[in-house]
Amino acid sequence: MEQEKKGKVCVTGGSGYLGSWMIMKLLQLGYSVNTTIRSHPDLKRDVSYLTNLPNAPERLHIFNADLHKPESFNIAIEGCIGVFHVAHPIDFEDKETEETITQRSIDGIIGILQACLESQTVKRVVYTSSAATVLGDSSNIVDESSWTDVDLIRTLKPFASSYTISKTLTEKAALKFAEKNGIDLVTVIPTWINGPFITPQIPGSVRSSLEMILGHQSNIIKYPPIVPFVHVDDVTNAHIFLLENPNAKGRYICSAVEITREKLAQFLLTRYPEFQKQITEYTWTSRELKRSSLSSKKLLETGFKYKYGLEEMFDGAIDCCKQRDML
Ligand SMILES: NC(=O)c1ccc[n+]([C@@H]2O[C@H](COP(=O)([O-])OP(=O)(O)OC[C@H]3O[C@@H](n4cnc5c(N)ncnc54)[C@H](OP(=O)(O)O)[C@@H]3O)[C@@H](O)[C@H]2O)c1
Repeated sequence: MEQEKKGKVCVTGGSGYLGSWMIMKLLQLGYSVNTTIRSHPDLKRDVSYLTNLPNAPERLHIFNADLHKPESFNIAIEGCIGVFHVAHPIDFEDKETEETITQRSIDGIIGILQACLESQTVKRVVYTSSAATVLGDSSNIVDESSWTDVDLIRTLKPFASSYTISKTLTEKAALKFAEKNGIDLVTVIPTWINGPFITPQIPGSVRSSLEMILGHQSNIIKYPPIVPFVHVDDVTNAHIFLLENPNAKGRYICSAVEITREKLAQFLLTRYPEFQKQITEYTWTSRELKRSSLSSKKLLETGFKYKYGLEEMFDGAIDCCKQRDML
């Protein structure tokens, strides 16, 4: 049965893993959704995985917008009560410089926040940040007061350093702009998002999570010694919970499970014995900095509950790969 109608919200980056799952869930919950996708001049995009979603014909509107042109988001934000800013230029192959990516990402979010201010209808903005913004020194547990040391990342240049720097500086710039201009901005800090997907291609973070089964690939994040995971549906629910909860304020780490990569291998071997050969032949090639444990205490104390464990994440991811003949 269709849920009672809620207000209209905007989701940026609707073509992506998290964005598309969020659209599906918001439509289920009774929201009307304006989403933004990038238009590619040479490519007619097939967005039937969005337009075929239940309730999409009545309540989903798709707009073209690009962080290159921050004002292109204005029309999608008009009349919305909330904005989920999910889009981010993700470039693990360093096709562009870190400075270019960071500048685009900051200009984009400031333009989006400005549009929210001018709309006079947006009550709260929820921004998808990343665990890359709270990298600690591996000796302690990090919480929302932690910030990645951008200068250290520039010096050490670990894999995905431009992503780490751009996410950190974008979240900082957004929080500062929001505070100065009286915008209600909440940020969500997810770890590795894993689980089922509705996108036609396998999402990057699911590809990373399944690397022991799918084999090595150069342009994805590698398992750190301790891998933190969260199910895509839990991250989505956390975003919606934080939009709706009147007491939400500031940053929220969203991470459900941490497991050493050795125990992860054991878990995969036991649960999916059909992939025994791939898992036992896999060799670690970590290019990741050691990470601290992350605490979700603040999110849990606000009343949020995680629903999923590793089993549901990997069952969902593997089933979706099989349905698309990727496994
Ligand atoms: N997946 C994870 O493990 C994880 C963990 C922590 C945080 N996050 C954050 O979650 C968000 C979504 O990530 P995801 O995993 O869903 O990645 P994704 O599938 O690659 O989605 C990224 C989205 O951003 C859009 N985008 C990229 N550059 C853009 C630009 N210049 N203008 C407008 N849109 C642009 C992409 O559009 P195209 O389809 O046109 O490329 C896509 O819709 C990101 O902010 C990411 O940093 C993800």
